Amino acid sequence: MDSVRIFDTTLRDGEQSPGATLTLPEKLEVAKLLESLNVDIIEAGFPISSEGDFESVKQIAQTVTKSVVCGLARCVEIDIRRAGEAIKPAKMGRIHTFISSSDIHIEHQLKSDKATVLKRGVAMVKLAREYTDDVEFSAMDATRTGETFLHELVHAAIEAGATTINLPDTVGYATPTDYRAMFANIIAKLPIINERGIILSSHCHDDLGMAVANSLAAVEGGARQVECTINGIGERAGNAALEEIVMALRTRRDHYGVDSRIEARKIYQTSRTVSTLTGLAVPRNKAVVGRNAFAHESGIHQDGVLKHKNTYEIMDPSSVGVPSNELVMGKHSGRAAFRDRVTQLGYTLSDEQIERVFNQFKALADKKKELFDEDIEVLIDSEFGRENAVWELVSLQVMTGTNAIPTATVTLKHTGTEVSQDASVGDGPVDAIYSAISRITGVKAALTDYRIRAVTVGKEAQGEVQIALAHADGDIRGRGVSTDILEASALAYLSAVNRLTSAATRKRQVTQHSGV
Ligand code: KIV
Ligand code: ZN
Repeated sequence: MDSVRIFDTTLRDGEQSPGATLTLPEKLEVAKLLESLNVDIIEAGFPISSEGDFESVKQIAQTVTKSVVCGLARCVEIDIRRAGEAIKPAKMGRIHTFISSSDIHIEHQLKSDKATVLKRGVAMVKLAREYTDDVEFSAMDATRTGETFLHELVHAAIEAGATTINLPDTVGYATPTDYRAMFANIIAKLPIINERGIILSSHCHDDLGMAVANSLAAVEGGARQVECTINGIGERAGNAALEEIVMALRTRRDHYGVDSRIEARKIYQTSRTVSTLTGLAVPRNKAVVGRNAFAHESGIHQDGVLKHKNTYEIMDPSSVGVPSNELVMGKHSGRAAFRDRVTQLGYTLSDEQIERVFNQFKALADKKKELFDEDIEVLIDSEFGRENAVWELVSLQVMTGTNAIPTATVTLKHTGTEVSQDASVGDGPVDAIYSAISRITGVKAALTDYRIRAVTVGKEAQGEVQIALAHADGDIRGRGVSTDILEASALAYLSAVNRLTSAATRKRQVTQHSGV
């Protein structure tokens, strides 16, 4: 069957979501998950944008072997060269170069003209071909570009050596009807597309909530690559959601007549990990991966599903890897059974990581009688990004109550050596904890978001706290999990402080790299 290539840009466009910055180990973790999901192309970053982005594209290129690893570049010589260097170690590497094609962008943003845009596009595609045979060209803001110039630019880019042509709906302006026609027209008017086996690609933003519908319309019009992100994260309202496109193509193969190579059973785990690492929560009612996506509340629906699943379920939850939430392990489970379960859940951990997570699992089993898959998953999620931890929580004591002044005493360890202690009062216990941590670490930031949820069920359930901080260096998120919600709150704040510290280190490295 004809296949649609899935181009995932979670690590590039997705990471452009405010506050979603990922550290290098976190990006590597996501890249490995995308590879095991069978994503065809991973857009790993924008190498010219920072030393950190260059390094992460390079390391992903060194690590990933089954997916094409792609680096983004403007149609600017230094961008192309930097992307070319970053993807050099890849078994299969791609340069994705873009330039604006709409009048409004050319006139107001580029302050240029069509002839110059065309010349730059051609020259930079040719330069990119010196680094790799796999070159993608994007006409940015294609959906607001006049057809004559768009076709002229695309033709020239193909002549120059582009093998994939992307027609992005950069500002989320298109309608499915227009976007479908745009692909069908260009195929009809430019025979070079079929003659050279050029892949046409869609790239949709969700400003009007039509990103997925538009991407699917592009497939109907002849696109055979779809650019998307896990959970639909991305610039502004986000990008088209990978899981929705994949499951729409699979569930409605009868309509679309095409499928992707995606290993759908890995979708849920990838969605969870991306949500955890970026701190961007998945809405409960989100299609395919939301908590309610397979929950039947109405009595009539429940009755129907019990009699025959297909009455109200068009997808089997297990087909996208939703865990059954069965009781899985207990206090007496051994290391081998634990390792086995971790593998069944789809994670690959080093011996050292297994040892650390197993010890935390044992400690949790002492506090909590019933342990579910999700308990293990949150412990593993907390393990990612540990390498960057500068501050560690040693102890926490909180005094609170009616007519009492909330007071917290916090002890922290700095990079495994110095131990510092301080105490503070606050408007409430969480405020007191955050103020004590701020006094010790010296990090001054305003709390802009605080959310708490029970990870599993029952009164012993672990509490997960997700926070957002506004800091002079930008917005940063943090997450903490514990059976004690005040400890989870402290851990969430510390994870944000640790991310801030590593982000500051990366920033310093970028400034030192004066060539960029
Ligand atoms: O939205 C957009 O146009 C982009 C390009 C860089 C492809 O992200
Ligand atoms: Zn985009």
